[in-house]
Order: sequence, then structure tokens, then C-alpha cells
Amino acid sequence: TTVEWEAASYDMGGHDTYMHKEIHEQADAVDRVLRGRIDDRFSTVHLGGLNLDAREARRIRRVKILGCGTSYHAGMIGAQMIEQLARIPADAEPASEFRYRNAVVDPDTLYVAVSQSGETYDVLAAVQELKRKGARVLGVVNVVGSAIAREADGGIYVHAGPEVCVVSTKCFTNTTVAFALLALHLGRTRDLSVSDGKRIIEGLRKLPAQISEILQQEEEVKKLALQFAEARSMLFIGRVRGYPVAREASLKLKEISYIHAEAYPASELKHGPLALIEPALPTVAIVPDDDLLEKNRAAMEEIKARSGKILAVAHQPQEKADETIVVPKNEDELDPILMGIPLQLLAYHTALVLGRDIDKPRNLAKSVTVE
Ligand code: AGP
Repeated sequence: TTVEWEAASYDMGGHDTYMHKEIHEQADAVDRVLRGRIDDRFSTVHLGGLNLDAREARRIRRVKILGCGTSYHAGMIGAQMIEQLARIPADAEPASEFRYRNAVVDPDTLYVAVSQSGETYDVLAAVQELKRKGARVLGVVNVVGSAIAREADGGIYVHAGPEVCVVSTKCFTNTTVAFALLALHLGRTRDLSVSDGKRIIEGLRKLPAQISEILQQEEEVKKLALQFAEARSMLFIGRVRGYPVAREASLKLKEISYIHAEAYPASELKHGPLALIEPALPTVAIVPDDDLLEKNRAAMEEIKARSGKILAVAHQPQEKADETIVVPKNEDELDPILMGIPLQLLAYHTALVLGRDIDKPRNLAKSVTVE
């Protein structure tokens, strides 16, 4: 499917900023990335541009995902989905680091370059180096016909539509959904059962309505932002699935509010960051209702015991937290797609309270086409 980007997409459509508009476009954007791709008969998805036949897909021994910034965070979520659904060892790495460490390029590894713009120099250079060494590289890209899309052997367009705001929101969400499709496709080509395939497809279909449900909580999030605008620094924590969500939320807050924020795996708190906890350092905890719920509760307890303020993003109100933003539950594997969305709103409204230039934060460019 090719989605035309119409001039109307660049219109603010009654929103004060592109960021606000793009946050609110996410239900439609996710609908677009799914459109025409689900195959109910075989409980899988069709990804037309992948250029990877079943025999090749079965031969993959590892998946290495490369991207920068927000795209790298989407890649971290993607790597976990691929491991969970396709049982292929997978990880994500900043493309900028990968390029400079003379990494071993392995013929049985599938490399995936992820980029909204398709023009980020560090990602493009990594793709070119990989291609020169004979690796197979797929692109997960938003801008159709961009440099990375052209250079890759195949890939998935994320069909988020044009993203004008320098900070990425809808494209991040659509990229994570594109990774869910890739993970499901690889899984069903290998050992993922029909019933698990069905379960994931049902979960994918629920996403647009669940996103709309989350966005309806904007007024409450706006109130919370008044408290957070006073913070000089914030901590974001999560475990496994929640950790990339915490990283992305922390990046979003930094980029547009200029409040210092740091993301940590909740499991690492006791190895250092607990020393920072005091009432003036609020923590945002990502607390999915999955097998790590009790562990996450214990981490919140550690913070509470040291008088730290906590905002939880969870599937049910959290007793240990001062405030909870409750998000709808999806399948465990797909929860990370949704859990960061209220935190885009939190970053947005915090930056608004502080009077920041939200669509064009200082020192940043939409695509970094230089070293
Ligand atoms: C996103 O909010 C950032 N401005 C930035 O980290 C961005 O994701 C990064 O520069 C990569 O861009 P790309 O996805 O276009 O390659």
C-alpha cells in the first residue's frame, strides 16, 4: 500500500502545535500501518516490501536493529518483540555507535535500520557499511523513497504520515507497531502457534481504540504537568518491556521541556540511583500488569520509603504511587506500544507550562544528516 501525503497533512488542523496534532493523529496512524497487512487465514501478516522469503526467514540466527534517538528506542521495543514472538535473539544498538566499533558482520544476522526520516547520516552510513560487507539490511522507515529506504534490501514503511514537529511521537508509535508486524511475521514463519498469532492480531486490532481512550485523559495529564514543571530533574524507570518506554519518555521530556531526565531499569535502582531519591526528584514508573508487576511494586516501595514522589503508568491504580495514569491492557508483548503515549502528553504539557518552543526545541534538527 502506498499512502499519499496530502498538503492537508501539513495544516495545523486547529491544534496550537504540530506536536499536539501529531499526538492526536496516532489512532489513525496506527490504523494505517495495519491496513491491508493482516492475514486472518494464516494468523499472520503480509509485508509486501520485505523481500525475504520463508526459507531465508527461517535461516536468520540473529536480528540486529540500528537507529538513533527515538528510532533506537522503538528498535529496543522491536528487538524484545522479535525475541518473544519469533524466538530469534535480537537486540538494538545506536547506529552511531555500531558504525565506529568495527562490529563483526555476520551473514546469518538480519540487520534492520530504523529511521523516521530515512535520511539520518549515522544510520545511512551504517547501512552502507553493512551492504558493502554483504549483509542483508531491511529498513523500517517512514519517509517513502528516502535514502535509507532506497539503500535497504527491503523493508516496512511505517505510514505515520508527515511528522513536522522536531520531536517524534506518532512515528515512534507506528514504528513499534511495524516491529510487532515484523515479529509476528517472523514468528509465524517459524514456531509461533496459530493461536498465539491470532492473539497478537486481536491485540493489534484493539490498538487504535485504546490509543483514543488514552488521549481522552489529556485533561488529567495536563494537571499533573503543573506539578512536574517545577522539577529540576526526573527519573524514569521500567523493567524489560517497560525500560525502553521509560527511555523514550525521558528523552521526550528532555527534548521539549529541557528538564533533566534520566531513565534507568528499575532493577538497577539499588546499584546506584537510589542515592538520588528525595522529595524533589519525582519518578515516573512504567508498571505493566505482567509477570514483573510485583518486582515493579517493590521498586516503587523502595522509592516511597525514601520520600520520593511517584507517578505510575499502569494497568490498574498503584497503591505505592502518588498518582497513576491508567492505560488499557493489551497483550503483554504489545503493551509497550501504548504505555508511553500518556507520557508524550505529559512532556507536551510540561513544556507548555514552561513556555518552551515545542515544535522547534533549541539545538535540535528534525533530521540529522551530518556526522
Ligand atoms: C526524536 O524526538 C528526536 N528528535 C531524535 O532522537 C530522532 O529520533 C533521531 O534523530 C533519529 O531520527 P530518524 O528517525 O529520522 O532517523
